[in-house]
Order: sequence, then C-alpha cells, then structure tokens
Amino acid sequence: MKDASIILTRDGSHSLASETFDTTYHSIHGAIQESQHIFINAAFRMKAVAQQELSILELGFGTGLNAYLSYLEAKRRGVAVAYTAIEAYPISLQQASQLNYPELLQRKPKAFLKLHQIHWEQEKKLHRLFKIEKLKSDFQQIDYENHFDIVYFDAFAPDIQPELWSPEVLEKTYRALKPDGFLVTYCAKGIVKRRLKAIGFLVEALKGPPGKREMTRAVKVSS
Ligand SMILES: C[S@@+](CC[C@H](N)C(=O)[O-])C[C@H]1O[C@@H](n2cnc3c(N)ncnc32)[C@H](O)[C@@H]1O
Repeated sequence: MKDASIILTRDGSHSLASETFDTTYHSIHGAIQESQHIFINAAFRMKAVAQQELSILELGFGTGLNAYLSYLEAKRRGVAVAYTAIEAYPISLQQASQLNYPELLQRKPKAFLKLHQIHWEQEKKLHRLFKIEKLKSDFQQIDYENHFDIVYFDAFAPDIQPELWSPEVLEKTYRALKPDGFLVTYCAKGIVKRRLKAIGFLVEALKGPPGKREMTRAVKVSS
C-alpha cells in the first residue's frame, strides 16, 4: 500500500488522495459536507427520530470522518451508538493528526484522535453514548445477521473496487442489517441499484450532496 496524501476539498475540509486506488476518499466538492449529507442526514438522523439506540456498520473507516460525525451526532441527540468500522488499510495516527476536521467543526482534537488511537479488534467506549469497535479486515469477510440499524457503505467506487459491490457482498450487507435497516451510499450507479433491488432492498434515489445529483438509500423492508 502506498501512502495517501492529504488534499483540500471545496468546503475547506481535508480528504486523502490514494495513490494505490488512484482516487480520493471523499468528494472533492467537500468531505465534511458529503459525509454529513449522506451518512448523518440521510441515515443517522432518520433513524434517530424513532430510536434511542443505534448500531452502525461502516465499510471503510479511512480518515474516521464518518465515525467522528456519528460520535458528535450521538452526543447532540442523546442517542446511544454502537459503531463497528471495518478497514483493510488503516492510515497512520501521524496522518490522522494532520486532518482538519476537529478544527473546522470547532472541537478539541482529543476525541477525533482517540478514534484513531483505539486499538484494532477491541471494543472501546469513547463516551457513555458512543462505543466503537474497529476491525482491521477485508469487508468481504463480514458475517453478521440482523445486527445493524445502518450500514455506511463507503467503499471506493464500483469501477475501482468491483469486488466490494458484488451481489455476494451486497447480500452479506443485507443479512447484516436488521429489518427496516438502512444501507446508505454516495453511489447512484444503475448496476448497483439493480443489484440492491434484486436482493430485496427497497431502493430510494435521494438528492445527492453538492456536486452530485443523486445518492442511494436502500431499506431492508420487513416482510
Ligand atoms: C471511499 S474511502 C472512505 C473512507 C472513510 N469512510 C472516510 O470517511 O474517510 C474507502 C475506504 O475503504 C477502505 N477499503 C478499501 N478496500 C477495503 C476492503 N476490502 N475492506 C475494508 N476496507 C477497505 C479504504 O482503505 C478506504 O479507507
């Protein structure tokens, strides 16, 4: 794995550009803006209307931005979150400490750094409302059943990582969700939406974040 380098996106927040995958970790139109729109607004907040406890699975911990925004949202709303993040290629603590998310969100960096310092394969409580388990493994290996309320499906794009958008992996994700659970992703490709529908998801095309027409929310409708 070659190192990823820090880039500035249009909302002023950092992202990473991966040399190995030849792509960026977030939209160049704005990393914080994108994560907030797709993962927090279209999933976390919708579920938090009716639930006081949420279990979330993330494909690709990466910069930790989705986990950090979820941690802040959990505290803001008084919702207890159990967060599981899968990451095959973790970034270094040294690189994480250069990311400007806490500064832009006007927070002290301690909690954000803690998310990165927490050891892999160990569940840790970052706050009474937020526990996290980071698993250093390949997302293709997941094996959960009716476990999560939300999946943040944040792999690199299907043309870059087709193996992570395969019917088999999407099916595993479906199984991992509880009935009425949400899978949310920035990806709005027809092939992905057709696969999700074929598995049994109810697929919604929602307005995308700035710079992107659409995003996808797929619901595991209870039968
Ligand atoms: C689009 S980036 C998003 C990262 C993260 N959600 C963030 O906000 O920074 C995709 C992430 O998936 C990770 N990844 C790539 N292939 C993976 C795999 N097979 N299993 C688990 N993680 C993987 C990458 O290292 C990267 O961190």
